Amino acid sequence: MNQAIDGFSLRNGSQIPCIGYGTWKTPNGDVAINAVSTALQCGYRHIDTAAGYRNEESVGLSILQSGLKREEVFITSKLPNAKRGYESTLAAFEQTLTELKTDYLDLYLIHWPANSRQFNDWEQINLNTWQAMTELYHAGKIRAIGVSNFLPHHLEALMHTPVKPMVNQIEFHPGLMWPETLEYCKANDICVEAWSPLGTGRILSNETLIDIAARYGKSVAQLCIRWVLQNDVLPLPKSLNPDRIAENLKVFDFEISAKDMAIINGMPYFGGSGLHPDAVDF
Ligand code: A2P
Repeated sequence: MNQAIDGFSLRNGSQIPCIGYGTWKTPNGDVAINAVSTALQCGYRHIDTAAGYRNEESVGLSILQSGLKREEVFITSKLPNAKRGYESTLAAFEQTLTELKTDYLDLYLIHWPANSRQFNDWEQINLNTWQAMTELYHAGKIRAIGVSNFLPHHLEALMHTPVKPMVNQIEFHPGLMWPETLEYCKANDICVEAWSPLGTGRILSNETLIDIAARYGKSVAQLCIRWVLQNDVLPLPKSLNPDRIAENLKVFDFEISAKDMAIINGMPYFGGSGLHPDAVDF
């Protein structure tokens, strides 16, 4: 990988630009329009949104206004939790297309698995949702389909369906690597994407990371993004600040040594969202 538009290959042969611009918590309207427009100007060609972020409308507008062709921008969105199930997935997907002002998505993900805390029939719910997504994929309305926040036991049920998940987007940053999920995804050719690769900003003041980053002449954010890539995971950093939006792409002019990778990989949990896929009640 030498630049953000270089692609990871998905199981179906499609390419996904190796850094995406994340939009979680970015408010719809001017804030999102300015941020996504800046990201596109800086060179991001992969925008990650979700119906649950309530900013698809502005994301779509920014892409339309950018002057880029639709096929030059890789767009990911996600099925909201309230719309799980076959019929409601089909309807929610159409709504997402309308909001984004496009007639196809590059990637559509189940945002969170139905889990056993909330549902006795959680596996069946996920399967019903997946069937709808599979049909949309076969109809050519989605170029690739996947999941988000799925642990191996959630993934397992979907691995015996005609189209297996191609992507799993999980919270991933120093101190939170979900090793079993990472191993499972790698063994099953599922591309792992990292949401909150900067630990929602909470890990950036860690002394170990500050020391390592200083040795490379890089910021801690750049170190974290590079560390994600060197773990063969696709980072989705987000920032609303134009300088930091640009800074987060400058991660291709250094390489973290094996020794430093081992130090960071070995760091214990020291902050993050605190959301666990089996514990959340949404
Ligand atoms: P800001 O929008 O003010 O730049 P994550 O992607 O892990 O969820 O982290 C996002 C948080 O990290 C945001 O609060 C964002 O704040 C901050 N952030 C993003 N990029 C950088 C950076 N290069 N340096 C410092 N903070 C950053």
